[in-house]
Amino acid sequence: MLEKIKEAVGFIESILPGKPEFAIVLGSGLGKLQEEVNNPVTIDYQDIPNFPQTTVKGHSGKLIYGEIEGKTVLMMAGRFHYYEGYDMKEVTFPMRVFKGLGIEKVILSNASGGVNPDYSVGDAVVINDHINMMPEHPLRGKNEDALGPRFVNMSHPYDEKMIDFVVNYGKQNGIEVKTGIYLGLQGPTFETPAEYGMVRILGADCVGMSTVPEVIVANHQSMRVFCISVITDLGGPEIRVPVSHEEVLSAADKAMPKIIELVKALIGSEV
Ligand code: HPA
Repeated sequence: MLEKIKEAVGFIESILPGKPEFAIVLGSGLGKLQEEVNNPVTIDYQDIPNFPQTTVKGHSGKLIYGEIEGKTVLMMAGRFHYYEGYDMKEVTFPMRVFKGLGIEKVILSNASGGVNPDYSVGDAVVINDHINMMPEHPLRGKNEDALGPRFVNMSHPYDEKMIDFVVNYGKQNGIEVKTGIYLGLQGPTFETPAEYGMVRILGADCVGMSTVPEVIVANHQSMRVFCISVITDLGGPEIRVPVSHEEVLSAADKAMPKIIELVKALIGSEV
């Protein structure tokens, strides 16, 4: 794996005009954040050695380097989901490459189904912990000691300083920001009412099909992780409202202005 990472890193470094400080991963329906990148330099996934390719509608496949709030960022427009058929090493390969590029701060975004009764569609939720219910673990197999330890400490999976900054920024600027625990399932089915009920019983506030593998690998490499989720639908044992990919995209799109403001504030801050 080390050779493959090195090749991808070398290729990207040969194109980028500078060193990115933040990696940003765009979730479903959150692509508009791309428009916030100044002086963009784009690299198609298909040109990067060893990089997986995307398959889902609404997820293009490119890295966008540029500036947001005067800081350098490398944005991943199009992420790899386990349900698409990639294995977990492929799903998390970009995190390996980001660390190889010297990036220490990762901002992840996603759309998720809310099971906390205090949540509404369109809420911005800062993720402060997760429950891994994915069927394959990205660190299974021989450990690459050069990348991180065999047994990874997960006591602070999401960076508390970044969480506090965004929650406080929201309070001071009249943007409602909630916090919560994300539970990762493989998908691609949305959950049944009973499964949403299970997610709640297990102690989570929202559920989705991404993020958890990336967070695990980022923690393996001692990166600082921030994740913001848009609640795009609500689920529970008594809720039988159908949910579709289109609704998820549309709800995420409506929440975009506040997500953009919060992410830009975080990037511009010194936390
Ligand atoms: N479940 C899983 N993934 C999702 C959901 C959901 O309810 N909403 C958006 N992504």
